[in-house]
Amino acid sequence: MPLARGRFITLEGGEGAGKSTQTRRLQERLQSAGHEVVVTREPGGSEGAEEVRNLLVSGSVDRWDAVSEAMLHFVARRDHLLRLIEPALAKGIWVISDRFTDSTIAYQGYGQGGDLTVLDAVRRIAIGDFDPDMTLLLDLAPEDGLARAASRDNEASRYDRMGLAMHERLRAGFLALAAAQPERIAVVDASSAEDDVADRIWALVRERYGLSGST
Ligand code: TMP
Repeated sequence: MPLARGRFITLEGGEGAGKSTQTRRLQERLQSAGHEVVVTREPGGSEGAEEVRNLLVSGSVDRWDAVSEAMLHFVARRDHLLRLIEPALAKGIWVISDRFTDSTIAYQGYGQGGDLTVLDAVRRIAIGDFDPDMTLLLDLAPEDGLARAASRDNEASRYDRMGLAMHERLRAGFLALAAAQPERIAVVDASSAEDDVADRIWALVRERYGLSGST
């Protein structure tokens, strides 16, 4: 029997929405359901992409213009895709990524004002028509998310320092993407307790892939 290709699931959202925690919890549940699962993140996930990450998360807020910044994210993403994501999927391994292309459209497009048509052209050059199989958008009011991130991190990243208005715009951007692609992107209310969010995500993933078990 030919090897079934793995599934590519992404978690998206603003700062402090709980993506990293939920990524791990989903990994555990998928593993209990018998799947081999790799967890990764963006920007990063491969050696080269992690180096590019350092150029993006530190330094002054206006270090890059929005399109240059989007290009850097896509440089990192192409490397991540070629070296980690594609090979894993081809081996039948499921991949869960904490962020992917939707973050570039929401942050550099809606949030920072990069031209959406230009960003789409860059996307096509970098990764063609590759898209996640399923995306879970953890939606949370930016005030709450930034407060959570501030209490968690020792040092505010470049993005945490960008101001509330930018975070409001990117939240609206994520919701616009979800409204335009409801077959791929499911919106999850991230203001509930961690266990409730994990249960909701698991219900959505089980339903999508017809998985059994309630773990
Ligand atoms: P993280 O805090 O989720 O690890 O991500 C680092 C930052 O990078 C986060 O503040 C969002 C930002 N980001 C973008 O602006 N565009 C992108 O395409 C990605 C993947 C992340």
